[in-house]
Amino acid sequence: KSGRNASFSLDVQQGQMEFFPGKQTTTLGYNGNFLGPTIRVRNKQQFRIQVKNHLSQVTTLHWHGLHVPAKWDGGPRQPIPAGSSWNPNFTINQQAATLWYHPHAMGLTGKQVYHGLAGLFIIEDELSDQLNIPKEYGVNDIPLIFQDRRFFNNGEFAYVQSMHDVMNGVIGNSLLVNGARKPFLNVPAGLVRFRLLNGSNSSIYRLAFDDQRVFHVIASDGGFLEQPTAMNSIILSAGERAEILVDFADESNYAVISLLVDQMGGGKFEALRIGVKGSGERAAIPQTLRTLDRIPESEATAVRGFLMETMSMGRGRMGMGMMGRRLTINGKKMDINRIDEKIKLGSTEIWEITNRSAMMMSMPHSMHLHDVQFQILSRNGRRPAPHERGRKDTVLIMPGETVRIISRFHDYTGVYMYHCHLLEHEDDGMMGQFEVV
Ligand code: C2O
Ligand code: CU
Repeated sequence: KSGRNASFSLDVQQGQMEFFPGKQTTTLGYNGNFLGPTIRVRNKQQFRIQVKNHLSQVTTLHWHGLHVPAKWDGGPRQPIPAGSSWNPNFTINQQAATLWYHPHAMGLTGKQVYHGLAGLFIIEDELSDQLNIPKEYGVNDIPLIFQDRRFFNNGEFAYVQSMHDVMNGVIGNSLLVNGARKPFLNVPAGLVRFRLLNGSNSSIYRLAFDDQRVFHVIASDGGFLEQPTAMNSIILSAGERAEILVDFADESNYAVISLLVDQMGGGKFEALRIGVKGSGERAAIPQTLRTLDRIPESEATAVRGFLMETMSMGRGRMGMGMMGRRLTINGKKMDINRIDEKIKLGSTEIWEITNRSAMMMSMPHSMHLHDVQFQILSRNGRRPAPHERGRKDTVLIMPGETVRIISRFHDYTGVYMYHCHLLEHEDDGMMGQFEVV
């Protein structure tokens, strides 16, 4: 949509899908049975939406990655009770990026996302208009949402079944791409842009093509990189996005190329088969995309430490079993009545996030901040890889790693969340609140 206003409505509803022939799966969706429509807006637009909760339980609607006034953030502080509506109204104040939306009610995020509540939120701006990259949505600019799921024999989703599922995340053995199992996609020969979202609850994915072809990463969570980065596989942790350009111009007649997903510590999937038709022209990949406004470290007025930890609660009767473990940030679990960090409006801060996992309890975490897009200063003291040098809102932190990020907290006051985006960890309390004052 173009113009000064963009208005939408989303009905949060229960539905059914047939992921396996003859078996019904009870699902949740926005305006449909599973997932939601892609919301496309432009920077500076006035955005209005009516969210109607038709479920019999509370939900919220959070704009993941969006720089938005706290009262419209859609986190656990903005519940939409069963049967009621929520009507956000704000100005888009952010450069072009591939963001997403999902529910975020206390203790229910993982379950509601698992059943299908998620969708993409795409911002365009003058730069994305001008760049010579594919931009025909659904034709050569294609969103791909990856989510693994585990099912019962009767076809229903098998969400958290044990404490093990909470601690390790619910790791599925079927992969859905845009809500379908192993879909087939036809693309024109030539350059194709994929907007990738790891929309899984707790999986870390490594994505690659079956022929190991090189692609170019052009954007991270918060928008375009300075220049395209050539890679032949990319890791995305839960909640992360990337935009890539893939050149399908060499497939002279007809070719089928598979996109593979390797779920770290889990299965390997043929996620998507891509049929390339026609003979395309070789489109040039732009040499540069933009100049990034790098936040200098010297601008920071505070450094905060965040310890993401699996603590053992001692060796009582529980011993080292799952029940004796606690997922915490700085030794605490989420408490909606407690503000963990106060930040001055307009300030710049460095956050040092450490994943301290004892050997028997080591697990990756995926740190996400609301409100801001940050920049990664270092990963274990080293400069981040080129595709991680752009704007980010979610970052993978492997056991033993320390990641330093820098961010400006500007424009809006209020209370926002930071949390692990492994949704079972988040729901278990691996979350805190910062207030911009
Ligand atoms: Cu994508 Cu606080 O979440
Ligand atoms: Cu975690």
